[in-house]
Amino acid sequence: MSRILCVSNQKRGVGKTTTTLQLGDQLARSGVRVLLADLDPQGQLTSRMGISPAPFSPLLSTEPLNQFIRPSRSPNLDLLPSCPSRTENQPFESLANNERAELVDRFREVAETYDAVLCDCPPSLGSITELALQAAEEILIPVQGDFYALEGLDQMVAVIRGAMQGTNPDLRFGGVILTRFNAQHPFSNHIEQEVREFFGEIVFDTVIPEDQALLESANESQAIFEYSIRSPGMRAYAELCMEVIDRG
Ligand SMILES: Nc1ncnc2c1ncn2[C@@H]1O[C@H](COP(=O)(O)OP(=O)(O)O)[C@@H](O)[C@H]1O
Ligand SMILES: [Mg+2]
Repeated sequence: MSRILCVSNQKRGVGKTTTTLQLGDQLARSGVRVLLADLDPQGQLTSRMGISPAPFSPLLSTEPLNQFIRPSRSPNLDLLPSCPSRTENQPFESLANNERAELVDRFREVAETYDAVLCDCPPSLGSITELALQAAEEILIPVQGDFYALEGLDQMVAVIRGAMQGTNPDLRFGGVILTRFNAQHPFSNHIEQEVREFFGEIVFDTVIPEDQALLESANESQAIFEYSIRSPGMRAYAELCMEVIDRG
């Protein structure tokens, strides 16, 4: 059976797209057949993989979803690209409940042909994120290890619990990932402790450090594995991958 994981946090810049890409790449290199779904209309995952955007939104199209899927340079790793749009959530807001359920079914059908699907969500709790929460089995929350780490997360947890009690009783917390962590920061221990106290044992042991190589690899449209195999960022995503596999 395939695992659908939704990578979400309504805050921008916390490492959702980076985590989707690097974790997906690591899983694929471990022999897991992975589909990444770029659900953010800004299309950063698609562009960072060096893949052309879809001509129109795959999720809103009546064409079979697998027609839009593109292979990446890594073996075992495919992408469902996004179609850049300025209206963002708008077309999804007007979907009726039965249309949403149908869309979720179509998405799950494609997901069945993979071992794992990682959905990169937009930085909002709008209707695209709601759809992803309806389709997923697990939610992964990257939390940036800074002073504002917990800001807004109450709201996000409430939306997730709403989905668990409403559209998707099978949804569960896959885990919280501390990202962009700077161990040199004078309050770094305090920040980590605060996040671990707030979320408890669902926080992964692995902490993703702030690492210039991750930023540079994104600019070069490369996975960190190809760009800098010895970097701390690469090691951290490899460890996270093992933890995600263990929790599956
Ligand atoms: N661990 C990290 N170390 C250094 N730069 C990072 C790290 N994680 C993400 N970045 C960079 O920070 C920016 C925001 O990350 P991104 O993954 O796009 O966040 P989000 O998808 O949550 O908006 C990007 O330029 C990305 O390359
Ligand atoms: Mg993003």
